[in-house]
Formats: sequence, C-alpha cells, structure tokens
Amino acid sequence: MSFAQAATGYCEVRELPPLSGIEILSLLILNQGDLAQMESMKAAVLTAFGDAEKFEIQTVPTPTLKANQVLVRVCATSINPIDYQTRRGDYKELVRLPAILGVDVSGVIEAVGEAVTDFKVGDEVYYSPQIFGEFGSYAQYHVADAAIVALKPANLSHIEAASFPLAGGTAWDCLVTRGNLQVGETVLIHAGAGGVGSIAVQLAKAIGAYVFATCSSRNRDFVTELGADRVIDYKNEDYVEVIRQETNGLGVDLVLDTIGGETIQRSLEIIRPFGRLISIVDIAIPQSLLEAWGKNLTIHFVLSPQYRAKLEALTKLIERHQLRPVIDSVLSWDQVVLAHQRLEQGGTRGKIVLKFTEN
Ligand SMILES: NC(=O)c1ccc[n+]([C@@H]2O[C@H](COP(=O)([O-])OP(=O)(O)OC[C@H]3O[C@@H](n4cnc5c(N)ncnc54)[C@H](OP(=O)(O)O)[C@@H]3O)[C@@H](O)[C@H]2O)c1
Repeated sequence: MSFAQAATGYCEVRELPPLSGIEILSLLILNQGDLAQMESMKAAVLTAFGDAEKFEIQTVPTPTLKANQVLVRVCATSINPIDYQTRRGDYKELVRLPAILGVDVSGVIEAVGEAVTDFKVGDEVYYSPQIFGEFGSYAQYHVADAAIVALKPANLSHIEAASFPLAGGTAWDCLVTRGNLQVGETVLIHAGAGGVGSIAVQLAKAIGAYVFATCSSRNRDFVTELGADRVIDYKNEDYVEVIRQETNGLGVDLVLDTIGGETIQRSLEIIRPFGRLISIVDIAIPQSLLEAWGKNLTIHFVLSPQYRAKLEALTKLIERHQLRPVIDSVLSWDQVVLAHQRLEQGGTRGKIVLKFTEN
C-alpha cells in the first residue's frame, strides 16, 4: 500500500447498528477527536535505496485499521539485519518506496477493528509485523492483524519487549517448531552473541540441550553467561575441529546457521547421522550438500512466519526468567540512521532498540 492509498483509507465508512440521535452526536464527537489525534503520525521514511542517510523523518498518514486488525501506539521497536538489507536494496522487487521499515513492535493498543474480540484498547502488546508487509514499525503508530499480536510479557518494559519478537520468534521456529530440539541433545549455534543467537543460546539451554556457540573472544564470557556450555572463538578456533574433538567424533544433533557463506557445507561435517541443520540466511555461496545425503540429514530453510502462539510461548519463558532480553543499546527512534550504521558495521551484542517512550 502506498502512502497515498493510506491517506485516503483512514476515513472509510463502517456499518453500525442503529443509534439514537444523542448517541450519534456523541459518537461523531468522539470519532472526530480520535481522528484529529491519530490521522497523521511521525515516521522514519525510507526515500530511496542506499545508505542509512536515505531515511527522513516525515509526517505521514496513520495507516488504515481493518476489521481484523489493531492500531498500536508504538512505544519501542528494534533494528534487525533485514532492515538494512532492505534499505540497501537487497529486496527491491518486494518493497515499494517510499517505505516504512521495521519488524518489531512493543506498544499499546489504541483502537481495535470491529472483528477483533481478543484485545481491547489499552492492552500492552508485542509482535513482529509481516516482513515486506504494508507498513513497518519505525513510526508512532502501526496496524497489524490481531492474529500476529500477543500480550507483552508482564515483567518486561516496552524497550525490553521490543528486542524480542523477530529474533526470539526466529529462535523459536528454528529450535522448537522446525528443529524439534530435545532434552539432552547437542546443538551448535553460530553467532551466539547476535540478535537471534543470544536468544537461541538461552532457549536451547532452557530446553535442556548441551550448547556449543560461536562468537569472538570479547564475547566469550557474555555468551557463557547466556548459557552456552562451550563457547568457540570463531576467529581463533576452527569450530569443526573443536566439535569433532569434544564430541569424540560424533558431532552435534542440530546446527543453527545464522551466518551464511560456506556455513552450511562446513557444518554438515559435524552433524550426527539423522541430525538437522537449520539455516536462516538467504545469501550463501553455492555449497555441496553431499555430506547431508550420506548421513541422512534434514536441512530446514527458515523464513520466520508471524503468528501469536510462538510469542505466547516466549512470554511464558520470559515471565519464568528462563529467557531474558539482550540489548546492545537503546537509541531514540529518530536516531534510525545511527542505529542502522551501528548494526551494519557488526559487533553488536543482542539488539539495538529504538524508543518512542521512556520505558
Ligand atoms: N530467516 C529469518 O526468518 C531470519 C530472521 C532473523 C534474522 N535472520 C538473518 O539471520 C542473520 C543473523 O541475524 P541477527 O539478528 O542475529 O544478526 P546480528 O545481531 O547482526 O548478528 C551480529 C553478531 O554476529 C556475530 N558474527 C558475525 N560473524 C560471525 C561469524 N562468522 N561467526 C560467529 N559469529 C559471527 C557477531 O559476533 P562477534 O561480535 O562476536 O563477532 C555479532 O554478535 C542475519 O543475516 C539476518 O538477516 C533471518
């Protein structure tokens, strides 16, 4: 949907049951008040593909609320690699400019569509907007299908909760839904200090697996604290050799590839027969899968889908203190240029959060 379409869509006529004259008058006053408050919003708008300077803070129309959707006042969002990949033009054919990027929300419901029964105004929620959907979350308001929205964990601030939906939901899909990781199994998580990896390490530990995780030496203690049993410094150690030695040549049950390049091919060497490899990275050089054939391995390519149930599962683990947010830094939402530059240059621990409010 373009901004122009959004602009014309907000005032759509809804079917209402018959009302008395006084009720109609008060409804009109209420709606005019709501409209005046929410017909426009500030957003970080991507005006062209390229470097981070292509964002502009603009006033744009608030997106239209459909019957099955909720309108959310965004309290915080976070930056994900998909944001800078999209910004620089990796997915040009899927994105129409000008665009609002952003795939994490923690916020407060301001209005519900007439078909929504499971949320009410004032509910505090968190979710990941559809990737390449209509509007992203670098904006004061966002609309989303109620089906992808969940109540925010009670023990997290909005800033903390905004760090979870995409990274945590992806970790859930990889290790639980697709990977079927079991108590007592052995897993290798690449990039244990990253947004996805830092949640995946905690999740694998909570499941009861033995966790190998790669990171650079400066993150060794940090990733150990997250729950890794054996941290591998990928710059100074060869993870294939380490895992061969430490598993007596058996290998691991599951590998989570968050890196790309030749990671699939190399990781296949240290997965046990009938084991699994999960890859979430789409940009990879051609690799041989011969090893997977010979060992009856299963390879899952995951593009994490949006749905409420996994957020509710994460919420349970967060509220039981089995998962905690991992926040590299918090910036004001209008510092999106700096946030993109920081994530893109690499070396972050967990997530960069953009805040709209102070908590
Ligand atoms: N398919 C999906 O649904 C999906 C969902 C989410 C993310 N993704 C993709 O998954 C990838 C990771 O996402 P993310 O949010 O976790 O990224 P991220 O937070 O930017 O990852 C940064 C981390 O990567 C580590 N790192 C870099 N190169 C490494 C290597 N060779 N070995 C081990 N660690 C390395 C860095 O650790 P050090 O500082 O210690 O080097 C840093 O902590 C991205 O490409 C993203 O687009 C896909």
